Amino acid sequence: MADAWKDADREGVPEFNKAPVIRVRAMPADTNPAGDVFGGWVLAQMDAAGAMTAGRRTQGRVVTVGIEAMSFHAPVMVGDELNCYGRVTRVGRTSVTVGIEAWVRRYLTDAPHKVTEGVFTYVAINAQRQPRPSNTWGWHRDDHPDWA
Ligand SMILES: CC(C)(COP(=O)(O)OP(=O)(O)OC[C@H]1O[C@@H](n2cnc3c(N)ncnc32)[C@H](O)[C@@H]1OP(=O)(O)O)[C@@H](O)C(=O)NCCC(=O)NCCS
Repeated sequence: MADAWKDADREGVPEFNKAPVIRVRAMPADTNPAGDVFGGWVLAQMDAAGAMTAGRRTQGRVVTVGIEAMSFHAPVMVGDELNCYGRVTRVGRTSVTVGIEAWVRRYLTDAPHKVTEGVFTYVAINAQRQPRPSNTWGWHRDDHPDWA
């Protein structure tokens, strides 16, 4: 069984980041009256994954400022395991852009399928909700308590 998962993990998984930022199962509460999973639920998971990626990159608080290039390739169904993968693609003065791909494993199956992708931009903000520098590599948040 362990080998089956290993093989499935190699099949089509995004090259940029094999560990998902978020992994969650789609539940009946995430559907519309017809029983289909809301695109908005998927988008919310992707936004949360992007915010975590951007927050780690900028070592502090971020807000979503823009979502572009969203593509819904395939439906998400109840029981699917949703995996959101994120990669920082651009670091601006106060903003960070993150490419997010959402992949599912259908209920009780192993093979991953890409269902959605999008480009999310976040702005690093301070405690006063004002934009702050996003390029913080090498700096520690404890040195900048007003960024918390
Ligand atoms: C994000 C926010 C703090 C930016 O404040 P602002 O005074 O407009 O800041 P700026 O105009 O200097 O823009 C900041 C950065 O965002 C970028 N930006 C602004 N609008 C953007 C958009 N629609 N898409 C992508 N990037 C955008 C700017 O290019 C700039 O990037 P840079 O500093 O890396 O060059 C402010 O717009 C805000 O609070 N928005 C609401 C955010 C929010 O609540 N999100 C959750 C919604 S539920």
